[in-house]
Amino acid sequence: MISTICMNPSFDKTVDVDSLKTGQVNRIKNVRMDLGGKGINVAVVARRLGLAVQCIGIMGKDGSAELSDLMDREELEHHFMEIPGHVRTNTKIYSRDGQGVTELNEPGTVVSEENLQAFFQLAKEKTKDSDIVVLTGSLPPGCPEGTYCELMKVLDGKKCILDTEGKELEKGAKGAHPYLIKPNLREMEATLGIELRTMRTIRDAALLFIQLGVEHAVVSMGEMGAMYVSAKKTLFAPALRVETKSTVGAGDAMIGGMLLGYEKEKDMARAFRYGIAAGAASVMTEGTQLMLRSDFERLLDQVKIQEV
Ligand SMILES: Nc1ncnc2c1ncn2[C@@H]1O[C@H](COP(=O)(O)OP(=O)(O)OP(=O)(O)O)[C@@H](O)[C@H]1O
Ligand SMILES: [Mg+2]
Repeated sequence: MISTICMNPSFDKTVDVDSLKTGQVNRIKNVRMDLGGKGINVAVVARRLGLAVQCIGIMGKDGSAELSDLMDREELEHHFMEIPGHVRTNTKIYSRDGQGVTELNEPGTVVSEENLQAFFQLAKEKTKDSDIVVLTGSLPPGCPEGTYCELMKVLDGKKCILDTEGKELEKGAKGAHPYLIKPNLREMEATLGIELRTMRTIRDAALLFIQLGVEHAVVSMGEMGAMYVSAKKTLFAPALRVETKSTVGAGDAMIGGMLLGYEKEKDMARAFRYGIAAGAASVMTEGTQLMLRSDFERLLDQVKIQEV
């Protein structure tokens, strides 16, 4: 069983307008409500790929029934602790005239120290039978710096996949030695405070995390592809050429793909290609619709891995 952690879930609301005008009344042409939160996204992708997975998280009481209902519709096993407050809504305004997407993200429900400790215990108990735990997404307000690090320490002995950035990534890598990290290039640059322009500098940056005790690092680079780094080897895979509809959640799909790869191959380097295929499959679907298994299966054979 795989567990994903989602401490700041959301409703993702996508609205279409002909042309977004700020400071004026805008008429909405179409509205869509999806599940949001990276921990939920990874779990949904993993489930669609046929893995046994559950999502463990925290959510505000107001809206919890609707959020649970959306997870049930995905047939996703979930265990969420309810706290006072409401489930946040992240709004994406899609302007049909080519202006792009404007996002308005709420911070989320405030978590107290007491809530946090209770959640850690819930996570520990519910992950008893899990080999792998995925920690991803923003933390809700109220969480101190190093919350993911503390949670990984509580989950002592689990293989943790950490997808975050900045201090959270740095502290987590140093203090709890996750099994895998998956920053994108921008997150890697922001965390280290340096520009990474060449393959060599990207590999060296990933190796810094390996030296801190991380076992595997995947640096994703959107349409450029991704790099896999461990103490033993460095791999690069160019992104697959597919028709791009929306790149939202490509990294989440990539993790879902690597989870399947790891289950099949029992080796993270060999699981990397599954991540590349899943990332590409995810950009072929509109908006926040994640990924179709059929696209993933068709793309898997097309992935070309190069040893660096
Ligand atoms: N336009 C694209 N075409 C083909 N493959 C893509 C494209 N964008 C992303 N991918 C694949 O998906 C992987 C992950 O994408 P990306 O680097 O954008 O993740 P991310 O920034 O973490 O995304 P998010 O956090 O929004 O889920 C890439 O390494 C690449 O293999
Ligand atoms: Mg990401």
